[in-house]
Amino acid sequence: MFLKDKLKPFSLILSPMEAVTNPPFRKICKDYGADVLITEFISADALIREVEASKKKMFFVEAERPVGIQIFGNNEESLIAATEMAVAANPDFIDINWGCPVRKVAGKGCGSGILNDVPKMIYLTKKVVEHSHLPVSVKTRLGYDENEKPVVYIAEALQDIGISAISIHGRTRAAMYKGKADWTLIGEVKANPRMQIPVFGNGDIDSAEKVVEFKERYGVDGILIGRAAIGNPFIFFHAQQALKGEKRTPISVSERVRVCKQHLEGLIQWRSEKLALFEMRKFYSGYFYAINNFKPYRIRLVTAASFEEVYKILNEIEEDFTI
Ligand SMILES: Cc1cc2nc3c(=O)[nH]c(=O)nc-3n(C[C@H](O)[C@H](O)[C@H](O)COP(=O)(O)O)c2cc1C
Repeated sequence: MFLKDKLKPFSLILSPMEAVTNPPFRKICKDYGADVLITEFISADALIREVEASKKKMFFVEAERPVGIQIFGNNEESLIAATEMAVAANPDFIDINWGCPVRKVAGKGCGSGILNDVPKMIYLTKKVVEHSHLPVSVKTRLGYDENEKPVVYIAEALQDIGISAISIHGRTRAAMYKGKADWTLIGEVKANPRMQIPVFGNGDIDSAEKVVEFKERYGVDGILIGRAAIGNPFIFFHAQQALKGEKRTPISVSERVRVCKQHLEGLIQWRSEKLALFEMRKFYSGYFYAINNFKPYRIRLVTAASFEEVYKILNEIEEDFTI
């Protein structure tokens, strides 16, 4: 079965994010309309060393399908072994991360660090494809730096060696997260008459309106939403509404509080109370975005020392604010 057959003609995808897109948050995004989910990135080297935390990241539930397990690496043997482990977990597809720009990853030739050695990128991707009976997708960037942005060539070459979809973040490795994502080349990849596989665009999509605008302007088969979904899983709901031309339904404070509690409880089960309280800190601003005078509550939330304390503050928020 081709990956294409498991996807809608246009997919809204929760962009994989380390310490964000774990099962509790993925479930919430799915409930609000994300069509495709992908795990956090998982180190191939750590997988073959049987590191428990990395193996755990491969976990997903049936309701998440279509779901991808994302791996990264630079070494042929470990990528092959990691592919086999990921395939054994039976997701719908394996996603290779050739996009991460952070030094501890890209500096070792993993993630977008591979973009200065495109032949190796193609070779290693081929090895993954050969060792997976499941579809393989690639997530990457435009190129290594401003001087060379070979993504149109890369997309074709990767399609030729058998990948089933490509996600492109409209920045180079060197750009990290700076400046604005440039979607022009993403549009060029999609417009290339030789491309048959789904082409997904990524970078700076922060509203439902932008989803519709960029879908229409660049003709992509799907859009990945990353940072704008942190604490705002509702963006998928609103984007689905916008794609259908429906009027936007506002999300009440009560609903946000309910989802925030669900997220916290899920994370406590997934990790521990201590780690969950810590990880939740980056979500509160998103969950309660656009609420006036929220700052004092946020400060209390991020310094709260227990689950009970966070709950108490969330209950206060529900009482004190309406939207
Ligand atoms: C906190 C954080 C963690 C990320 N972790 C991953 C990851 O594990 N795998 C990956 O492919 N990209 C990762 N990314 C990149 C995002 O998936 C996405 O490509 C990038 O943020 C651009 O999309 P956006 O503008 O919608 O955020 C991460 C980004 C952020 C902000």
